[in-house]
Amino acid sequence: MSKADAKNIDWKNLSFAYMDLPYRFKALYKDGEWQDGEMTEDSTINMNEAATVLHYGQADFEGMKAYRTKDGSIQLFRPDQNAHRMHNSCERLLMPPYPEDKFVEAVKKVVKANADFVPPYGTGGSLYIRPLMIGLGPTIGVHPSDEYLFTVFAMPVGNYFKGGLTPTNFVTSEYDRAAHMGTGQSKVGGNYAASLLPGDNAHKNGFSDVLYLDPLTHKKIEEVGSANFFGITKDNRFITPDSPSILPSITKYSLLWLAEHRLNLKAEQSDVYIDDLDKFKEAGACGTAAVISPIGGIQHGDDFHVFYSETEVGPLTKKLYDLLTGIQFGDVEAPEGWIQKV
Ligand code: PLP
Ligand code: COI
Repeated sequence: MSKADAKNIDWKNLSFAYMDLPYRFKALYKDGEWQDGEMTEDSTINMNEAATVLHYGQADFEGMKAYRTKDGSIQLFRPDQNAHRMHNSCERLLMPPYPEDKFVEAVKKVVKANADFVPPYGTGGSLYIRPLMIGLGPTIGVHPSDEYLFTVFAMPVGNYFKGGLTPTNFVTSEYDRAAHMGTGQSKVGGNYAASLLPGDNAHKNGFSDVLYLDPLTHKKIEEVGSANFFGITKDNRFITPDSPSILPSITKYSLLWLAEHRLNLKAEQSDVYIDDLDKFKEAGACGTAAVISPIGGIQHGDDFHVFYSETEVGPLTKKLYDLLTGIQFGDVEAPEGWIQKV
């Protein structure tokens, strides 16, 4: 895709799909250190057949977005948090973390270079950014690689779940996404590989995604395959599951703060039992791609539990959505340090 192609994009009808934009950043780790990275137009990666990413899953990634504001400028939402989470994911897979300040610099370079592809303000679209690290070194015993690639690429996207702010339904599964002391807290490729089969089953049955239960007892809600879960109780508490096997979602932590400080709700992380859904008047999935996607109902075995409505977003979920997206698109004052201009 060339810069000129940006003119042909239908910004209001973007889906969540890969686009091969003109520029990406790549840096190699060799001889015990990260080399200087560079911007490149090459969207392919060459590697040895025994690269650790291929056999032993040494791969972690991040998901973040750049937003066009009303004045035409471009901004990032809490990119330091993504840099830090990738650092933690790398440590879990024995990969060499990419320096966090350089991570944010690389993200800004990629956004600047592809600025024509940041959707216009008011279309609802944003530029989705995918930092990725993989083990490249050839290894046939189960050991970490001694060579890595860190790359950052991007593409304009719209809604992740088709409904947008219209609720959609989710379903629980017999399958687990991540083990109790496994890699659920890390954003690593293997977690998503494990979620493909249950996710596909859910889609075939008309659900947006799987709502995973805790791997130890299958009684507590964990998270969605691609987002965290939250509920708002009938006595106005914003609750999101507390578990060692879910992703520490940056959107979730932001909503916990906003619910408490801007909406005066009590906000807490705690156990959420799948048999206790009646206490919630609203529920949703939250994440960078999902933003806030209201959950209409949850199918669990033979039970189908509807929260606020299957067709209308609940009022508090809508307030949270307006606050969060208002901050991201620069219309609402952000808490200190949440926004970085590109
Ligand atoms: N949980 C999973 C499994 C995810 O893939 C994501 C997406 O990144 C999230 C939660 C939400 O995390 P964040 O809000 O940091 O995007
Ligand atoms: C994100 O929200 O950034 C994700 O990573 C979710 C999904 C696209 C994997």
